[in-house]
Amino acid sequence: MNAPHPPPELEPDRVVRELSSSRIRELRAIVPGDRLVLDKDGRARYGGDESPLEPVPPAAVVLARDARDVAAILAFADRERIPVTPRGAGTGKVGGAVPVYGGIVLSVERMDRLLDIDPGSRLARAEPGLVTGRLRDAAEAQGLYYPPDPNSLDTCSIGGNVATNAAGPCSMKYGATRVHVLGLDVVLAGGERLTLGRLTTKSSTGYDLTSLLVGSEGTLAVVVAVTVRLSVLPEARRTLFVPFSSVSGAVDTLVALYRAGIEPAAAEFFDRQALDAMSRVVTIPSGAEAALLFECHGSRASLEETLERMAGVMGNRALEVGVARDGAALRRLWDARKEVSVLVKERYRWRRTEDIAVPPARLPAIADFLAGLRARTGLDIVTYGHAGDGNLHVNFLYQEASRHDDVEQAVSALFRRTLELGGTLSGEHGIGATKRRFLALEQAPALVAAQKRLKKALDPHGIMNPGKIFP
Ligand code: LAC
Ligand code: ZN
Repeated sequence: MNAPHPPPELEPDRVVRELSSSRIRELRAIVPGDRLVLDKDGRARYGGDESPLEPVPPAAVVLARDARDVAAILAFADRERIPVTPRGAGTGKVGGAVPVYGGIVLSVERMDRLLDIDPGSRLARAEPGLVTGRLRDAAEAQGLYYPPDPNSLDTCSIGGNVATNAAGPCSMKYGATRVHVLGLDVVLAGGERLTLGRLTTKSSTGYDLTSLLVGSEGTLAVVVAVTVRLSVLPEARRTLFVPFSSVSGAVDTLVALYRAGIEPAAAEFFDRQALDAMSRVVTIPSGAEAALLFECHGSRASLEETLERMAGVMGNRALEVGVARDGAALRRLWDARKEVSVLVKERYRWRRTEDIAVPPARLPAIADFLAGLRARTGLDIVTYGHAGDGNLHVNFLYQEASRHDDVEQAVSALFRRTLELGGTLSGEHGIGATKRRFLALEQAPALVAAQKRLKKALDPHGIMNPGKIFP
């Protein structure tokens, strides 16, 4: 089970648990037929996401068909002061899609068309409900590449990726969602439609509202179309799995690779506990206390050279270099990587998982801190993640509910250390509802206030995904 989070603190007079019959009549007129879901089971299906938050059924669910539906719903909701929680595929980890204030869940799952792929300009346009993996496949069919690769690639949608600025292993080389988004068609609270950004890869015209919207977790607008840039499909890819006899051996090596100017596409880290969990589905060399799983992209010729240089840097640090360089064994390792989040929690009753990031050169310091935290608290702490970006998923695992408070304190200590090291509370999952009580650790009051003023300018009545990001 996921460790419970304290229930979000709400402003009671803004909560909308049910809608009056006249409001329901109006909604039916805006979104007739099966685009409006009012039955109890139907609403319950839209109450939760992949976060540890208790699901909260909304008063109504709208399955928007197009931008017109979205605009009409947002105009109605703004006029009536009804909270709206936008929803992509519901795969988020921090409760961004949980309608904590009730009201309307506005799902874009039916807006799932790929609108355009333009190989001549290397662009794609999609509706927000398009599953990210389908965008990637469509690009690949044209010899192009959409790099962001969240672990939920086959189930998450591009609109949700925009909302959280989602990433994944390969953002080490290519960057998270934000750097790939050139433009957004959005609808503001009130129903006004705006086209943000551009079709060009560069532009110096006006404020960059596109970038502001990416990562805004549905608190500013609803995205109805996304324009992304595509990269050239790498000619070749090579994977390398490298076990180490210590955690510091692995993270120091990663820093050494950075210093040497070597740039893998991905560098995933696993501690021994994560490797133990993976060893249930894949063979892990004995004696491994940590490991790095690399993916390198480039031309065939350049990759041979890259791998040789990597072996040079890692040679005397690793237990062995070049383990499992054949295709099938490596695919099994990447499959195990995809499953690791599930595997680590199998033997425990409770789990709390975090998503901190630090500058990569400070990974050794955070690894030391985690070793100390484990010794001090006696908690099982399992760490894996996108070390290439300094982004670690730290899992706190335990059996007794009586340890909830210890875990809360351990998480708080982890956040404080992360921030001392120049890091951030969330590398890729967002703040959502689960971490907003910690936001003030990272951001000064004036910065939080400035963001709230921006929000007020775009969403004056505060209907857009209330209860998220801000304490
Ligand atoms: C992962 C998800 C949890 O990397 O972000 O497995
Ligand atoms: Zn991740």
